[in-house]
Amino acid sequence: MAKDRTRFVCQACGAVAPKWQGRCDACGEWNTLVEEVSEARGLGPAAKAAGGRRLEFVGLEGKSAPPARMLTGIAELDRVLGGGFVPGSAVLVGGDPGIGKSTIMLQAAARIAAGGRRALYVSGEEAVEQVRLRAARLGLAKAPLGLAAATSLRDIAAGLESESEAAVVIMDSIQTVWLDALDSAPGTVSQVRACAAELIRLAKTRGFALVLVGHVTKEGTLAGPRVLEHMVDATLHFEGDRGHQFRILRAVKNRFGATDEIGVFEMTEHGLVEVANPSALFLAERRGNVSGSAVFAGIEGTRPVLVEVQCLLSPSAGGQPRRQVVGWDSGRLSMLLAVLEARCAMGLGMNDVYLNVAGGLRIQEPAADLAVAAALMSAATDRPTDPGMVYFGEVGLSGEVRQVAQAEARLREAKKLGFEAATLPRRIARGSAPLPAVPGLKLKEAGHLADLVA
Ligand code: TYD
Ligand code: MG
Repeated sequence: MAKDRTRFVCQACGAVAPKWQGRCDACGEWNTLVEEVSEARGLGPAAKAAGGRRLEFVGLEGKSAPPARMLTGIAELDRVLGGGFVPGSAVLVGGDPGIGKSTIMLQAAARIAAGGRRALYVSGEEAVEQVRLRAARLGLAKAPLGLAAATSLRDIAAGLESESEAAVVIMDSIQTVWLDALDSAPGTVSQVRACAAELIRLAKTRGFALVLVGHVTKEGTLAGPRVLEHMVDATLHFEGDRGHQFRILRAVKNRFGATDEIGVFEMTEHGLVEVANPSALFLAERRGNVSGSAVFAGIEGTRPVLVEVQCLLSPSAGGQPRRQVVGWDSGRLSMLLAVLEARCAMGLGMNDVYLNVAGGLRIQEPAADLAVAAALMSAATDRPTDPGMVYFGEVGLSGEVRQVAQAEARLREAKKLGFEAATLPRRIARGSAPLPAVPGLKLKEAGHLADLVA
């Protein structure tokens, strides 16, 4: 007989250690290891005799149609999902507390219910009255969705059993759900994992779309969560500054659509409102003729987005110069500063550097290098960049400007928003695609960072 053994599971990343230790080897967090009874048992030598069902292997061709989609009617959410919810799938929606996860999911569930399908919202965080108040504030009180406040997995599963028509089920949040068979507290890795697995199993067998809402810990990972990310079909992150009204929903994993797709929302007193044209919004507060600013023509998922990159230099007070970055990668900034110094003789090393992507968007594309370099150069020389110009291109360690994907989509967006010119990577290889023709846009090719100085 297999023996129950204890093991120690990190509550931050889910790594397992055989012995207790103060610090998790996998993620480096302190005091996150918690004792658990290991439930894993191998099949053992009796497996063959136990009579497993023999698998039948089939070919790749078949009659299976693409999954039927369930649109929420909130276009920004539908696009991030890859075209609405997929029945029988599980989506994890993560984000900081207070960012608007409950709000958007209540809005989505209400829309689906108003469209005539059964939508259920299980709140583990708020009482029924609180959710009703919120719904009234959002003008959704009339929507025929099913609402319940519960945290016991047994109750929730029993409730779902009797709802054979359910098309979508929201569990807000997965960290509040607990299974009485486990000793550990709600929110621990083992509880979150066990409860999520059971709910996902229900979703697959009953064919409803499941949404698990999860909070992000202060380190930016979902609590109990690496564990969840591989169990679900899609992971969406809700990002944004709480002091800012803009919210960005980003698909970081999606088995049914593109990743890095974003949806942009504005938080108003009537809940989250879609922003159909994010570029216009991100550029709305831009003032031309200020040094240290450049417009980056980026791609988020399948959509072009223009954002302003702002940079400020100030003489360092001594000691280690500050590098303050919002919305971009600070490692990437250090690299660019080094390249500017080594390849363009532009020493900014003694300055504090502040870099900000206006509007609260977090850029992940290397294509932003050229726009950041332009903003840095503009700040260093105190000469504004051309306000009608957009920039995109990746910068290599020798200062060369490298090609990036989807040049044409970037240029079209720039044209649409009234820009007149673009600085983009020079074509080097003979076989490379011709410059995209976007009438009315002047194209300036840059082969090296030094070309920007000229
Ligand atoms: P909420 O959806 O509760 O966040 P989460 O579930 O991610 O923790 O959103 C909470 C914030 O949103 C709260 O600070 C108030 C604000 N809010 C509005 O500004 N307008 C609204 O209509 C609603 C419902 C919330
Ligand atoms: Mg909430």
